[in-house]
Amino acid sequence: MKTFPLTPRFGRVIASIDGEVLRDVPAAVVLDGLRTGAVLLRGFGCQTVKAVEELTDRLGCKYIVHGMGGRDIRSDDRTVQVVQNRHALCLGLHFERRYFPGCPDLCCFAYGKAAPFDGDTLLADGAGMLRSMRPTTVSFLLAKRALHTDTQGRERWSGAFGTDDVEKAGRILTEMVAREPRAEIAFRFHGDKLTYSYLTPSIRTSAFNPAEETFHANIIRSVWDYRHDLNDYFKGEFEHPQMFMEDGSDVPEDIFCELYHLAYDGAYAHRWQEGDVLLVDNSRVMHGRHGPRIGELITRFGVLPSSGQSS
Ligand SMILES: [Fe+2]
Repeated sequence: MKTFPLTPRFGRVIASIDGEVLRDVPAAVVLDGLRTGAVLLRGFGCQTVKAVEELTDRLGCKYIVHGMGGRDIRSDDRTVQVVQNRHALCLGLHFERRYFPGCPDLCCFAYGKAAPFDGDTLLADGAGMLRSMRPTTVSFLLAKRALHTDTQGRERWSGAFGTDDVEKAGRILTEMVAREPRAEIAFRFHGDKLTYSYLTPSIRTSAFNPAEETFHANIIRSVWDYRHDLNDYFKGEFEHPQMFMEDGSDVPEDIFCELYHLAYDGAYAHRWQEGDVLLVDNSRVMHGRHGPRIGELITRFGVLPSSGQSS
């Protein structure tokens, strides 16, 4: 196998050149690649749920569920989802579930079944964004944490917690909160609805590279999917999380525009080939999509034991 940069600024490709299969790639090589934000494994012929599962297990990641059950078309033994997003032409760049204390450290996407045409997956490096930000923007983000609020019905929080029992979900959420010392969260169940507010820093260190500081907030996500595609798909019933700054104010327009341009102007667009596996450090690199998803993408989210997060 050989390795080379995925983009000039972040990410690494590990390519099979002598017929190696996924099991031949040492976990240490993959984890070293993840210190650059993302790893593309190409040519290893990984197209099954089981192979993806074995890979993420070898990386030491503990599986967590997606929490958006409406998108899953198959779930072998409830450990991974196979997702087809026919409903959404595009998904705005985002960190997976950054609005929620169960935010995964790793996103693993494997292209199982190709389609005649398919959208590109976009990646944007939060560490690179942070390096290019105006100093005043960095100061602003350090001074005011991001505040997310949401109300979720049972069908949504049960996916995130892996249970539909209110008391059990409350205990799991309490554990999650206790393990994120830099965040604050207030929540309550009223009937089977969960309302929470989650206050979290917008700049943190990468889970896979503690030496790397990175932007890590879903400030720009709302542009496409929260307001349009997902609400179309869920027939207007999707109660999306809202994001404000710590004091309840909106994100200032100039900062929003700066972050939007830094993310999209520097984004890498991945054109899928069958068998590709894309591993993304979700504490550092945003993902999104440009174009429809027609083929099958096997998705698995994981947390590192060191992050102390609970499933
Ligand atoms: Fe996502």
